[in-house]
Amino acid sequence: MSIQLSPVKTRVGPLALVGNTPLVEVQGLGLPAGCERSRVLLKLESTNPGGSIKDRTALNMVRTAEASGELRPGATIVESTSGNTGVGLALIGALTGHPVIIITGQDTSQEKIAALRQYGARVIFADWQAPVESPDNPRAIAERTAAEISEAWRPRQFDNSANPAAHYSGTGPEIWKQTSGRVTHFVAAVGTGGTVTGTGRFLKERSQGAVRVIAADPEGSVYSGGSAGKVIVDGVGNTWPRELWPTSFDPAVVDEFRRIDNQESYTVLHFLRNRHGLLLGPSSGLALAAARRVAAAAPDGSIVVAIAPDTGRNYLSKAFNLEWLAEQNITLSSQLPDVDQLSH
Ligand SMILES: Cc1ncc(COP(=O)(O)O)c(C=O)c1O
Repeated sequence: MSIQLSPVKTRVGPLALVGNTPLVEVQGLGLPAGCERSRVLLKLESTNPGGSIKDRTALNMVRTAEASGELRPGATIVESTSGNTGVGLALIGALTGHPVIIITGQDTSQEKIAALRQYGARVIFADWQAPVESPDNPRAIAERTAAEISEAWRPRQFDNSANPAAHYSGTGPEIWKQTSGRVTHFVAAVGTGGTVTGTGRFLKERSQGAVRVIAADPEGSVYSGGSAGKVIVDGVGNTWPRELWPTSFDPAVVDEFRRIDNQESYTVLHFLRNRHGLLLGPSSGLALAAARRVAAAAPDGSIVVAIAPDTGRNYLSKAFNLEWLAEQNITLSSQLPDVDQLSH
């Protein structure tokens, strides 16, 4: 069963709740002597109505396409997504009278699939690793599916400038205001790159180049160099060759990439739950692990802001399931790794 709602405009109702997310300080990170006055803050994107930062992206892509006439009333929205953009689009579609079809990977958590269906989206599973030239590639399936429908719109979040623009006009200015312009470092994990590109660009421009932008990259991703492997941090990383990287990602905005292994990301993720009661998604653990290293190497008094893209409730069957963790060879430690021992 899915919800049935009467159509609303994208600027009223629950969609007016997208953005303006809280910033919370995370203490007890064991920062070494010499940076005791530095602060690490997490921007909690799980308070968006669809539960993730991708509500911002989905809403801005829809509004932009409505304004240009590319998205016509009642047209079907067809997108390939690791889940969160799909949930945002499904929520917006349910509210604005657009049917939604989502192409996603077999690994997408059952919680996200259930949320997609609750909002009435049709879900098609694809091989997420299928190469671009393969007919089984998720984007190829999305293109074919859209071509078969008389009135369809493809947001193409990986190559849509409205994706980084959502963060340039929203996430970036919010962080600037919430820190009274005192943010010194910005950390985000990279999927489509929309978050790091739009937010990072705004903060750099506003601070006249003073804010440093750091991209957190999981094991198995090629964004930070190295060869492609299995990525088990949902929604982030990339295994494609450089010529196929999303155009919504501008690597020139990034000052530094930090590659974090799975063991560390998941240990930090569980630390957040155990010590702070924050049940967040794995890409939040990855971003905070990178932020901790950044804070440990930065001048005392730095203000490091990291993005926490979504809630851990999306991953109860994965990141918070001991069997799944064991299958991924992750052994959780009750202690954070000693930041002095880590290579910064
Ligand atoms: C859980 C999660 N974290 C991080 C990201 C990365 O955000 P972006 O696509 O803006 O790089 C995504 C993207 O879908 C995501 O779903």
